[in-house]
Amino acid sequence: MPAIAIIGAQWGDEGKGKIVDRLSQKADVVVRYSGGDNAGHTVVNKRGEFKLHLTPSGIFTPGTTSILGNGVVINPSVLIKEIEGLNSRGIDTSRLYISDRAHLIMPYHVLFDGLEEEAKGDAAIGTTLKGIGPVYCDKVGRLGIRAGDILDKAAFKKQLAGVLKYKNALLTGVFGKPPLSLEDIYQEYCGYADRLGKYICDIIPILEEAIKNNKVILMEGAQGSMLDPDFGTYPFVTSSSPLSGNACLGSGINPSQLTAVIGIFKAYCSRVGAGPFPTELKDATGDLIRETGHEYGTTTGRPRRCGWFDAVVSRFSTKINGFTGAAITRLDILDTFPKLNICTAYKLDGKVIDYVPGNTAAMFRCEPVYEEIDGWQCNVSDIRKYEDLPLAARRYLSRIEELIGCPIKLISVGKHADQTIEVGKLH
Ligand code: IMP
Repeated sequence: MPAIAIIGAQWGDEGKGKIVDRLSQKADVVVRYSGGDNAGHTVVNKRGEFKLHLTPSGIFTPGTTSILGNGVVINPSVLIKEIEGLNSRGIDTSRLYISDRAHLIMPYHVLFDGLEEEAKGDAAIGTTLKGIGPVYCDKVGRLGIRAGDILDKAAFKKQLAGVLKYKNALLTGVFGKPPLSLEDIYQEYCGYADRLGKYICDIIPILEEAIKNNKVILMEGAQGSMLDPDFGTYPFVTSSSPLSGNACLGSGINPSQLTAVIGIFKAYCSRVGAGPFPTELKDATGDLIRETGHEYGTTTGRPRRCGWFDAVVSRFSTKINGFTGAAITRLDILDTFPKLNICTAYKLDGKVIDYVPGNTAAMFRCEPVYEEIDGWQCNVSDIRKYEDLPLAARRYLSRIEELIGCPIKLISVGKHADQTIEVGKLH
């Protein structure tokens, strides 16, 4: 019963979509376990190029079941648009399931995300403004509305009325904004219930059945480990855990059923939004990585901050997730560089350290200690065997492997599914 978790190992945007799409061709079930439409996955396959925010990448494999787990937060209008877009391009969504326990993003969540960011001024997180922080606050604050709730319309109206009273008091009293209409939101979400009702169910029996029948299950992560609310660069983080521990919590697959944990690392680093990023290149080299790699957010279109591979962050990520294997993506983006740098340690207040400080103010002061490595200066995008990679590329990869402490199993050298080098078995 292989259950394989696919986890972003850096600050998100590591290219998980391509890897999950590839692996899902041999998977029976793909389940997403965290985040919402703050995530953006670009998948390029035989059917074309797709930008997904919510739907698990397994949707493209006929016969594969795709699940949005209880740990995901769902903006119903975004999901409906995504389903319609997929259907209009001939993609079957009849094997999509939504956990009845997944929380819904409500109009006030999106509104509060914007108002709170504005109120923070210079200390703003740079969120995606999709309502992610507010919806997870309501989840733990016991004010949330879950997918299953909207199916019982009478009970939903009572529940919404209670929550909205509180939200409107905040909106009018604290932010000086007009109140939201109960009737409008109720009608809007009843429409979503009619449209999405057929997908909403208890997902536990589906997963139980898959495990009992020895099916291959992929657990698809969103965002990256350094955006984790506990272990990331708090408060410059997202609001649900991208880590392997949450792959279980956000889907209902228990930890003893997890058989492999694959960390996805980009061959360099990028980050969107504010927060510490020790290897950031605010110069022409950073611009070159951004332009070569088209490093612009799938969700917001914002330019991503780019920098060298950070082995300190990556080693930390390997430890807290328990990676059993690594996939290195976007190696081809580094093709033209004569020299590359890998950050092996930080200099903090004059002292060299080899760990990620828990204190974010200290993380802001960390300066990278680099090891310089020769570039390969040739095109690797047509290479399909590890031994055919130029020696300098193999040296770069094996140094990364050594520093992160986990074997490399896959290398991606282009955005198409077949532009992949398999180094070892994933599980
Ligand atoms: P939120 O998740 O919208 O609340 O944003 C919090 C932080 O996480 C911001 O810095 C975002 O840019 C970042 N973030 C959220 N989702 C993603 C993602 O899918 N990729 C990269 N960064 C993300």
